[in-house]
Amino acid sequence: MEILDGKKISNLIKDEIKNEVEKMISKNIRPPHLAAILVGDDGASLTYVSSKVKACERVGFKSSLFRFNKKISEREILLKIDKLNKDNLIDGYIVQLPLPPHINEEKILLAVDPKKDVDGFHPTNFGRMALDMDAFIPATPFGIVELLKRYQINTIGKHCVVIGRSHIVGRPISILMSQKSENTNSTVTLIHSRSNNIKEITKSADIIISALGIPEFLKAEMVKKNVVIVDVGITRVLDKSKPKGYSIKGDVDFKTVSKKASFITPVPGGVGPMTIAMLLKNTLKARKLSIQLN
Ligand code: GUN
Repeated sequence: MEILDGKKISNLIKDEIKNEVEKMISKNIRPPHLAAILVGDDGASLTYVSSKVKACERVGFKSSLFRFNKKISEREILLKIDKLNKDNLIDGYIVQLPLPPHINEEKILLAVDPKKDVDGFHPTNFGRMALDMDAFIPATPFGIVELLKRYQINTIGKHCVVIGRSHIVGRPISILMSQKSENTNSTVTLIHSRSNNIKEITKSADIIISALGIPEFLKAEMVKKNVVIVDVGITRVLDKSKPKGYSIKGDVDFKTVSKKASFITPVPGGVGPMTIAMLLKNTLKARKLSIQLN
């Protein structure tokens, strides 16, 4: 069994990005600028956004964090989005999800200028991705494909089972893994909470990408020998023995499944750091796009 070390690979990618930024600066070109909108005080969202801001510093990007009270109106967020869309000094931005229930997520995501949509959540980018056109690819699925590629895992013709149909991970990764490319070209099955015969399907998988959010859902008896496991789950589970009062659990029962797997991502240190690296990659792409446009 070999660990798919997302932390290590994400650091390599961040170094590559940093080099590009240094080249930009040496040519008197302004470095990329990423902004984030964070509504409310959800602990997990705050942690994720802080990691994104810190990663910007590491690669030499400028970053701006706009925090709003959870009672903010939809109109006020839309006004902020309009400002960010018009601001030539901001190349890309994200609206951290989830948003409070009184805010229509769909309306917010539709308001983001697709050219600045570094999360790749706007239908224009999602549609372009699905049609094999150049697009911003959502950071987590993008990171999964990149991690498999850097470990030279053969995905061609393999049965890839995706667990979960979220707009952020399950749905897009199922599209990417089936695409005609050297690093994908898999036969994809997407399963979800209403699927029948889950165990039969997972047992026939060469690659399993789990984005379900149920701690330790995938057990050893549900997988075949030498399977490749990508665990996207990051659920906070109460744990009084930890200083923070919780521990982070993936979707996979790592202890037993890792004994059967050929490759497996750890949680934490697998997909999470890759997501941040690919968000930076998308922001660099947005900056290059803005240079071409101006
Ligand atoms: N919430 C969970 N994952 C993500 C992500 O990748 N981007 C944003 N904006 N919100 C999230």
